[in-house]
Amino acid sequence: MRGIILAGGSGSRLRPLTSIHSKQLLPVYDKPMIYYPLSVLLQTGIREILIISTPAHLGMYRSLLGDGRQLGISLSYEVQDEPKGLAEALLIGREFVGSEQVCLILGDNIFYGHRLPDMLREEVERLDGCTLFGYPVSDPERYGVASVDAEGTILTLEEKPTAPRSNLAVTGLYLYDNDALAHASELLPSARGELEITDLNLRYVKEGRARLVNLGRGSAWFDTGTHDSLLEASLFVQLLEKRQGIRISCLEEVAHHMGYIDNEQLRVLAKELSSSNYGQYVLSLAGA
Ligand code: G1P
Repeated sequence: MRGIILAGGSGSRLRPLTSIHSKQLLPVYDKPMIYYPLSVLLQTGIREILIISTPAHLGMYRSLLGDGRQLGISLSYEVQDEPKGLAEALLIGREFVGSEQVCLILGDNIFYGHRLPDMLREEVERLDGCTLFGYPVSDPERYGVASVDAEGTILTLEEKPTAPRSNLAVTGLYLYDNDALAHASELLPSARGELEITDLNLRYVKEGRARLVNLGRGSAWFDTGTHDSLLEASLFVQLLEKRQGIRISCLEEVAHHMGYIDNEQLRVLAKELSSSNYGQYVLSLAGA
């Protein structure tokens, strides 16, 4: 399975923070936002990843993450010229995905849960059509909203409904079989001029091949679309990390844990970062 991280958009709801800076590079406590979705892909076992961003910002992602070799993964980069919708990521990534399955994750979505990596790997194994991940929220009208039958097959799916049929928000993490490329190429722009991910997902719903997994109570999901939710995500990460003495979504740790890099490679990465607390943490993992 290939991975795509969409880190585009104009970030208009976060201005002036995003007046010149890319939203998905803003700090979430101790690391850039994109570390969080990237670590989800790594933990799922996905090592070939495409990062999509705006013409103005793509170079910054390349400077930050390079070709991924240092983490034992492969990163490539493509531009989204204008914010024309989430589903456009699949058109931009068509060649990159080839004939594989694909996991699309939004660069501003933060997932945390101790069972999450295992669960994601199980879902990749059983994928047939598309699998979405729902999270119960108090304000579903801000999101895509799904209703499901007892088996988890999606019955209805609506984008930002005024009268939501459930409290299950569809998070920005999507598993697709290769049909997604053909479906995406048939989409028409919505009223707001975008290729909507919900329209793509609705094609699978019509085929009866769209599944929703409820992430449920034991996990956390943040989208970082507003000043408040950005701060809340930072506070959440800070709280967990300080209390438990761990780091969430530490790419170096994840790459080492997954066996993508060995101890010596971890030590080299740690040394480069060693003047920060984050680097000291990585150094301690490398046994130095
Ligand atoms: C997008 C999707 C929506 C999804 C949300 C998750 O919304 O269109 O279905 O629930 O991401 O973050 P947007 O952030 O573009 O408003």
